[in-house]
Amino acid sequence: MSWLSFVLLCYKSTFILSQSPPLLLLVSFDGFRFDYPQLYGPLQHFSRLEEQGVHAHSMIPTFTTATFPNHYTLITGLYEEVHGLVSDQIYDSTTNSTFQISGNMTNQWWPFKTIWTINEQRPEGRSGVIGWPQNQIFVSKFEPYRKERSFKDSTDQMLNWFNDPEEPINFGAIYFPEPELTGRQTGPYSDKMNDTIKLCDNNLGYLLNEIDRNSYLKQNLHLIITSDHGMEQINGTDKPIYLEDYVDMKKLKAFGTETVLNIFLNSNDDINDVYRNLSQIPHTTIYRKQDIPARYHYTNNSRIGNLIIIVDPGYELHRRSFHGGIIANLSTIHGNHGYDNQMNSMKTIFYASGRQLRDNFTLSNTATLHNVDIFALMCLILNITKCPPSNGSLANIQPFLKDPTRVLGIIEKDPGKSQDGSMSLVIYLLVLVSFVLILIMAVVWSGVSFRNASAISRATHLDPLTIAEQNQYKFTQINDMKLNRTIGDDNL
Ligand SMILES: *[C@@H]1O[C@H](CO)[C@@H](O)[C@H](O)[C@H]1NC(C)=O
Ligand SMILES: *[C@@H]1O[C@H](CO)[C@@H](O)[C@H](O)[C@H]1NC(C)=O
Ligand SMILES: *[C@@H]1O[C@H](CO)[C@@H](O)[C@H](O)[C@H]1NC(C)=O
Ligand SMILES: *[C@@H]1O[C@H](CO)[C@@H](O)[C@H](O)[C@H]1NC(C)=O
Ligand SMILES: *[C@@H]1O[C@H](CO)[C@@H](O)[C@H](O)[C@H]1NC(C)=O
Ligand SMILES: *[C@@H]1O[C@H](CO)[C@@H](O)[C@H](O)[C@H]1NC(C)=O
Ligand SMILES: *[C@@H]1O[C@H](CO)[C@@H](O)[C@H](O)[C@H]1NC(C)=O
Ligand SMILES: *[C@@H]1O[C@H](CO)[C@@H](O)[C@H](O)[C@H]1NC(C)=O
Ligand SMILES: *[C@@H]1O[C@H](CO)[C@@H](O)[C@H](O)[C@H]1NC(C)=O
Ligand SMILES: *[C@@H]1O[C@H](CO)[C@@H](O)[C@H](O)[C@H]1NC(C)=O
Repeated sequence: MSWLSFVLLCYKSTFILSQSPPLLLLVSFDGFRFDYPQLYGPLQHFSRLEEQGVHAHSMIPTFTTATFPNHYTLITGLYEEVHGLVSDQIYDSTTNSTFQISGNMTNQWWPFKTIWTINEQRPEGRSGVIGWPQNQIFVSKFEPYRKERSFKDSTDQMLNWFNDPEEPINFGAIYFPEPELTGRQTGPYSDKMNDTIKLCDNNLGYLLNEIDRNSYLKQNLHLIITSDHGMEQINGTDKPIYLEDYVDMKKLKAFGTETVLNIFLNSNDDINDVYRNLSQIPHTTIYRKQDIPARYHYTNNSRIGNLIIIVDPGYELHRRSFHGGIIANLSTIHGNHGYDNQMNSMKTIFYASGRQLRDNFTLSNTATLHNVDIFALMCLILNITKCPPSNGSLANIQPFLKDPTRVLGIIEKDPGKSQDGSMSLVIYLLVLVSFVLILIMAVVWSGVSFRNASAISRATHLDPLTIAEQNQYKFTQINDMKLNRTIGDDNL
């Protein structure tokens, strides 16, 4: 490689780095319980990621610990009572409409700005989403969920989007449906789960290898590997429990999952009768709306019922009216989630890497990291300064950062940063001067090699001096631009 092309490459990468916002890929492996790596480990690639970056012993999901609500929490940082996606099946009494995973999922159910839309609202910010549990996502690149799609296929597509020469994305999100599918079928403790966790580890390995093979991504891409919730064993020895066996269904509407139900009374006069009857259901706890424990952050929304039923871990409450009257066959159900989010079995994984994050750091305190915290971490990594308020705590993500003072920047917009600003200006000028020196050397050297070059290269290449001249022009422009942008920049 000649000096000239080397220098050209340097300019090009300086240009890319200075123009594009930081890169981040968020990956969710549905239903990945926090202790699967211990139960089925050692997992080669999860361990590798652990050493490359930061990792939490466990992460606490949001109540209810269902799939759609927690995926929405991850990308908004909001509790379910705030974002309103309060279950995988929801009734909205204000519009008399129903949210159903298998049915109507129109955009009215996702009114809040997500990390990918916020990212797109700035110059050069482009997002790409594959299969996230949500329909119709309006970002630069989007492909909806397909059950049969392999992780490898999603990875290849996603990394192509990051490498797109015309319109590269800088934020991506991938959803993968395992180990949830296996967990529901076999429960968290099974040989099949052992195989599925190995599959997830191999999938992660493929992603890490593909990133390592690409110097641009290896150097710049941040990665977050996480999930929505854990998995609890259902033993399936009892007869199914049916709601209809305890209450007069004409008095109410019931919406939710087999583990948490929202009960809407047709008449408030019946509340005591219905409450009394529901209290007879074994292995459940019934709350009046105003008595729901505050720690669930699951009260202040009209989509939360007058009463809620929370099923004890390991059990399910069925509705004959749901799923077209199909009778639940408990011998085919061995795992579920949705239960109390403080339970260990509902906790999930968190791993992240990238140059803004520490190396080989484990957050061992099991009580601190909540999935509402991840949104602000993504804002920081993506360098989004105007991130909307969320329910996360900056103190919880601070230990992951190489520069923990960065969390201050996201709270206080304009503190006295003039010193940092002038420091970075000095450093910048030094870098600028060395680049000019290298450029001059390059021009001289390429002039020398040009005189010695063969006729073929003369016939097939542009005059190097012309290139150098053009490039000198570009270089000056770029750096003038950068210089202007750098003044007062406290993040450089
Ligand atoms: C998982 O499978 C491996 C073989 O692939 C076996 O060595 C290991 O003991 C299994 N782990 C559990 C917890 O069953
Ligand atoms: C709500 O919708 C259901 C069917 O979707 C309908 O039967 C019912 O009459 C509606 N209720 C009101 C108050 O509009
Ligand atoms: C889906 O929901 C929208 C908005 O509530 C409604 O207008 C539409 O009719 C529903 N479609 C179906 C198939 O239920
Ligand atoms: C409560 O249960 C009793 C006995 O099964 C039933 O007669 C009554 O209708 C139920 N009341 C309500 C409000 O569901
Ligand atoms: C309840 O939610 C509304 C918005 O839906 C909000 O204005 C209000 O502050 C919330 N109340 C509490 C106690 O959080
Ligand atoms: C289900 O079985 C497991 C393993 O035998 C046991 O630890 C757990 O307590 C059982 N759960 C219930 C709800 O009985
Ligand atoms: C439940 O599923 C098991 C296993 O597939 C099957 O053997 C059994 O016949 C089913 N029971 C009912 C009532 O459908
Ligand atoms: C990572 O940390 C662990 C424990 O803190 C240590 O044993 C291990 O050597 C570290 N690995 C690297 C690559 O630094
Ligand atoms: C959660 O965040 C929302 C949006 O900032 C806010 O309105 C709400 O009060 C917060 N809830 C709690 C419990 O902090
Ligand atoms: C962060 O954004 C600011 C503009 O808001 C910009 O000046 C700075 O260079 C960016 N930092 C990084 C690391 O991208």
